[in-house]
Amino acid sequence: MNNGSSSHIVYGGDYNPDQWIKTKEVWDEDIRLMKLAHINSATVGIFAWSLLEPQEGVFDFDWLDEIVEKLYDNGISVILATPSGARPPWLSEKYPEVLRVEENGIRNEYGVRHNHCLTSPVYREKVSIINRKLAEHFKGNPAIKMWHISNEYSGECHCPLCQEAFRKWLKKEYHNDINELNDKWWGGFWSHNYTDFSQINSPKSRGENHVSALKLCWKRFVTDSHISFYENEIAPLRELTPDIPVTTNFMNMYDGIDYQKFASHVDTVSWDNYPDWSNGNTARTAINTAFAHDVFRSTKGGKPFYMMESTPSVVNWRQVNKIPSPGTQEITSIQALAYGSDSVQYFQWRKSRGGHEKYHGAVVGHDGTENTRVFSEAAHTGEILEKLSDVAGKQSEAEVAIICDWENKWATDFFCGYNNNRRDYFDECKKWYIPFYKAGITVDIIPEDADYSGYKVIIAPFLYMLKDQTEERITSYIKNGGCFVSTYLFGVTDKDDRCFLGGFPANGLKDVFGISVEETDALPDDLIYKASFGDKFYDVRHICDIIRPNGAQILGEYKSDFYSGTPCVTFNKFDEGKAYCVAFRNEGDFARDFCSMLIESNRIKSAVNFNIPDGIGIRKRGDFIFVMNFSNEMKIIPFPIYYTDVITGELVFGKTRLEANKYLIVKEKKENE
Ligand code: GAL
Repeated sequence: MNNGSSSHIVYGGDYNPDQWIKTKEVWDEDIRLMKLAHINSATVGIFAWSLLEPQEGVFDFDWLDEIVEKLYDNGISVILATPSGARPPWLSEKYPEVLRVEENGIRNEYGVRHNHCLTSPVYREKVSIINRKLAEHFKGNPAIKMWHISNEYSGECHCPLCQEAFRKWLKKEYHNDINELNDKWWGGFWSHNYTDFSQINSPKSRGENHVSALKLCWKRFVTDSHISFYENEIAPLRELTPDIPVTTNFMNMYDGIDYQKFASHVDTVSWDNYPDWSNGNTARTAINTAFAHDVFRSTKGGKPFYMMESTPSVVNWRQVNKIPSPGTQEITSIQALAYGSDSVQYFQWRKSRGGHEKYHGAVVGHDGTENTRVFSEAAHTGEILEKLSDVAGKQSEAEVAIICDWENKWATDFFCGYNNNRRDYFDECKKWYIPFYKAGITVDIIPEDADYSGYKVIIAPFLYMLKDQTEERITSYIKNGGCFVSTYLFGVTDKDDRCFLGGFPANGLKDVFGISVEETDALPDDLIYKASFGDKFYDVRHICDIIRPNGAQILGEYKSDFYSGTPCVTFNKFDEGKAYCVAFRNEGDFARDFCSMLIESNRIKSAVNFNIPDGIGIRKRGDFIFVMNFSNEMKIIPFPIYYTDVITGELVFGKTRLEANKYLIVKEKKENE
């Protein structure tokens, strides 16, 4: 199986020749312009079902053959999409069951896209038929380099078929034993003991929405439904085109699907990246984007991914769609490369003439020419990417991991108690990511059930829910010499959101960390407490555990309320390893200082050996070092040793100016160079 790795950076994006089928001279112009822009890949057919199968069972691939051939003859390879993301009107007219039923129980009418039931056997069959036809047709075609399955799977369906499928899923999960489900869901509460699986429905605002275990199961079921829908989509492709890798594009930190689970089903992970560069804090936007890149890179153990979409200029779906400053598109592309992408792809190549997205940015605008700023910037990026083909396939090595787990995100959202306003699980994970980002240190962002070995440090912010085996895995990681940092509300519930008995953190973790949590306090936003650590004081915000030390060393104390003087930062040497607990939530300056202690004491290596100015992002990939200025002002980079600029070949040394939105890609100069 080809895993999608390539010897160059894939440069292209969503291309909709189907919208221009009546003016095919536009196709020829597209090819001319693509070559001018150094485009080497086009993703076609994403929403083309009504042309591919204009009537049920009548297929027309002639137009697709024609454009695929034109592209390939001109050195542009093709990522071929399956069209299930949007269906032709005839399909839902004839088979209304394919339409999605919303949480309110009402079936949608035909319209928009992604509006389909994940369970419907008819829809699965129709998708499978057209995918088989496509695979039969394009089998052996050298132009096709990858399958792009559907588009941004998302949402959920509450139709009777999905309810039945959910009950079946529950039966499997709970060994067909309703009493096991009742026990695990703590059915005695509010008289919720079911006598039959048929009594259970999906969570709804007008029905059951207070049983967190039900809500967790529903989320897991929705993820599994997407995966099985996708597996049904790819079955004919695997059978007929086993050498063509398969991907589906993920949507940033969308939490409706457990991407960490889904990732193991694709050959190459890909995601769609639309940073908000006009929110007044470009440096912060860069961090959020870097974090998402690291999430997706880590889902496949660090293997390169694809940035399947990004905009060459604006989007159309924010309330106000400000044009990002010139150079933004290029630095967004370079950042993707730095963080492990083997592709830079746009939505979209050419603006549609009509339709909902006609004002979304595109490489080619409604003027249809190469004489625009956007086009020339895209062409420039294309030229640069050609010089960076050696970056493709390279990986970054991480000594640090942050556990940021989709299921734990759901669990932290669903429980009721303590501070119900403040959960922000992903932001909490980011808080611990930022200090490493700022220090030029690669971090893997891993799920709870990833392999922990190989990391010097693992940080588990707000790891509230422990899946089966997590306790044992944390314990053995620490036992074998690992350094593990837990924070507040750590190890509180099992995977059904049932509290562990005997005190927190769960079971033996109390010994591993040398503490137990006695109470958890919640602070309104305007109540800010203090904590000490070393010789400094920090704000305590929103939530904090009151802990009882039981062998752990006390590194910091609360300075407020009746628990003033009690520990809030602890350390326990456990066997070969180190177990820290940071029992409170903070604005980030604590994480910064605490992480610099971790970096030093665990000898974590940065990509560079100098103080990184604020707003500068630094990342090492292979032996390429990317230095990117995401601030909005010029910065001086103090290169302490000689580097070679990979693009110009020039030497870089000493204080070097780097303008806003500009970047350098360098390699350490070898002795004999
Ligand atoms: C993506 C989607 C594309 C396009 C784009 C606009 O989420 O996959 O088809 O709609 O947004 O930004």
